Amino acid sequence: MKITIKDLAKLANASVTTVSLVLNDKPSRISESKKNEIKKLAELYHYQPNFTARNLVTKKSNTIGLLIPDIENLFFSALAKKVEDELRKLGYSLILVNSNDDHLNDVKLITNLVNRGVDGLLLTLSNDAESHKEVYLRLFDNLKTPFVLVDRVFEECDCPQVYFDNLLGGYLATRYLIKKHHKRIACITSKTGSLNGLQRYRGYEKALEEANIPLEDELVIEGDYRFQSGYQAGDKIIDLKADAVFASNDLMAYGVIRRFKERNKMVPEDIEVVGYDKLDFSSMLGLTLPSVEQNVQDLGRESVGMLMNQLQKKKSETKIILKPTLN
Ligand code: RIB
Repeated sequence: MKITIKDLAKLANASVTTVSLVLNDKPSRISESKKNEIKKLAELYHYQPNFTARNLVTKKSNTIGLLIPDIENLFFSALAKKVEDELRKLGYSLILVNSNDDHLNDVKLITNLVNRGVDGLLLTLSNDAESHKEVYLRLFDNLKTPFVLVDRVFEECDCPQVYFDNLLGGYLATRYLIKKHHKRIACITSKTGSLNGLQRYRGYEKALEEANIPLEDELVIEGDYRFQSGYQAGDKIIDLKADAVFASNDLMAYGVIRRFKERNKMVPEDIEVVGYDKLDFSSMLGLTLPSVEQNVQDLGRESVGMLMNQLQKKKSETKIILKPTLN
């Protein structure tokens, strides 16, 4: 039978407050012998705190909800790990939910996390969020739970957000290829479907314009940040005789490289590819893939920091724009 903190107090001949102070290692004048007695009894009777009862009293759950759009993408699993590491240091636990890049799931999952009583939310929205902006802005207007938009944001929204300068990232990737003397540079983008794909595409446009290389619409192929969309772009890119590809994320880069190899096109000898995210998969597989790096450690740390400032009602910046790099 589960025992309560009241039962434990009776067994220890102490008050509930004393037991709570001891089990939460709070500073007190309680003797070491009494502390040891209480801890031994808690262990003997397998005492487990009743978080629901505690939450009702403290109005805190010490739990943060993290919404990500694609748990199979190492970028997001690495982000989730970093967020959890940061939260653990602060005494918070994490509830991780995955939307499969579906805005309807975003709304359901955010509502579910709020109903579970999380203290705060870290939200990386679905790829199709851009085309359902009004739904989100209405949701955010009515959201009482503190939240931070992470990585994929509505830049015009004044809600707290931490993201990378995606235009710079797309520019760096394309300029890298231009400096390697490529002239027919294809772009596998996610410009119509995602919050950050369009900015990466704008960076591609900017680099081409700066180098006086005409932008050819046929060399711009819409993807969805998934492997398959990169793979499916491969034949068209070969048929158009492109000499380089900027893929707006590494999963699409892996897909197009896979198709190039099937068609006996050597990378980078025949067609050079630059990706985005600098996923650890590449180094694990010994794949030399130049890729724009978005430091997930910085993203996770800054996002948690901004949310904590909100929870502690500290004045702090509500928009942090991080810089991607390409080395
Ligand atoms: O790979 C998935 C992409 O979507 C990443 O580049 C990240 O920025 C996320 O928004």
